[in-house]
Amino acid sequence: MNSLQIIKPDDWHLHLRDGEILKAVLPESERHFARALIMPNLIPPVTTVKQASKYRESIIKALTEKDSFQPLMTLYLTEDTKPSELKLGVQTGIITAVKLYPAGATTNSQSGVKDYKKIYPILETMTDLGLPLCVHGEVNNDSIDIFDRELVFIETVLDPIRQRFPKLKIIIEHITTKSAVDYVNEGGKNLGATITTHHLVINRNNILAGGIRPHYYCLPVAKREPDRLALLETATSGKENFFLGTDSAPHFDTQKESACGCAGCFTATNSIPILTQIFEDNSALENLENFVSKNGAIFYGLKQNKSYITLKKGNSNNLPQNIICDKKNITVFDPGFELNWEVQTTF
Ligand code: NCD
Ligand code: ZN
Repeated sequence: MNSLQIIKPDDWHLHLRDGEILKAVLPESERHFARALIMPNLIPPVTTVKQASKYRESIIKALTEKDSFQPLMTLYLTEDTKPSELKLGVQTGIITAVKLYPAGATTNSQSGVKDYKKIYPILETMTDLGLPLCVHGEVNNDSIDIFDRELVFIETVLDPIRQRFPKLKIIIEHITTKSAVDYVNEGGKNLGATITTHHLVINRNNILAGGIRPHYYCLPVAKREPDRLALLETATSGKENFFLGTDSAPHFDTQKESACGCAGCFTATNSIPILTQIFEDNSALENLENFVSKNGAIFYGLKQNKSYITLKKGNSNNLPQNIICDKKNITVFDPGFELNWEVQTTF
C-alpha cells in the first residue's frame, strides 16, 4: 500500500502547557490532529470550570488556523472538588472528562488525591452525569518499586473504585504493562485505555542501557520488552477500548538533561508518521484508523471527525527535530528508525 486515507486523528491525552510554550507546541498538534483531550496539570492546576473555559479560550486564540483543532477540556480532580462544579462543567459543555492524579505521582500532581475515600461522592456524581474519569494509574509510594507502580495501582486503587462504581466510565491513561492490557481486556465496555506513541517504540533498555537517555524518560516509565509487545499487539489489533493518547509532554532540554531530569516525551510532531510506520511493520495498516481516529470518539460518545488525512509513502524525516521557545529547545521524540510515511491533510 502506498497511500491511505483515514479520518483525521484525535489525541486523547495531550499536555499543551500555557503561555509561550503553548504557542510554540500547539502547531505540532494542529498539524495532524482534529481534537485533543487537554491535560489540566498547569501551575496552578485547572480545577474549576471557569479556569478550564479560560484555558480553552487561550488555546483557541493560539491556533495558527481558525477552527483547525478542537481542545476538549479536563478538570483536575482534588479532594475538594465540588460535585456542583462537575455538573456545571457538563451543563455548559466545557468539560469532557475529569483527571485523577495520585498526589505526587508525576509532573504537577501535588494537588492530586491522597485519600480515595474522599472522592467517592464526586465519583458518584460523575457516574450520574456520565462524565468519564481519566486516571494516571500509578501509586506514589516509596516502598513500591517504580516498575510495579501501575499494577499496584490497578490492584489496590482502581479495582476497588470499579467494584463500587461499575457504571463509571474510566480510562487508564498511558498503560505500560501487559497486566494493564489484560485488565482492560477483561474490564467490559466502561473501561478503556490510552496508549502512547513512545510506549509502542521503547522499552526500559532504551532509557538505561548504554547510557542514560533523558528524552526517553517519562511517567509511567517504559517497562520490559514483553510489556511493549503486549501494547503493540493490542494497539495494532484495533480493539475498541484502546486508543491513542500521545501524552506528548513538552519540557525544555535544560530540565530534561539534568541531574534530576523531569518526565515526559514530546511526540506531538511525529506521532502519526511513527504510528503509521509501526502499523505497517506489523501488517496492521487496516487497523490504524480504529486506533488513532475512531475508538476514542466511540468510547467518549462523541461524533467522528469530518475531516480526513492522507498518509502517503514518502519521507517524514523532514519534520522538526526540536521546537524553539524563548530561545530554549524542546527535543522531539526520536523513534530511532526512519519514517517512510508523510501526512497530507485533506478536507
Ligand atoms: C507528564 C507531564 O510532563 O506533564 N509527564 C509524563 O512523563 N508523562 C505528566 C504525566 O502525564 O504523567
Ligand atoms: Zn500526561
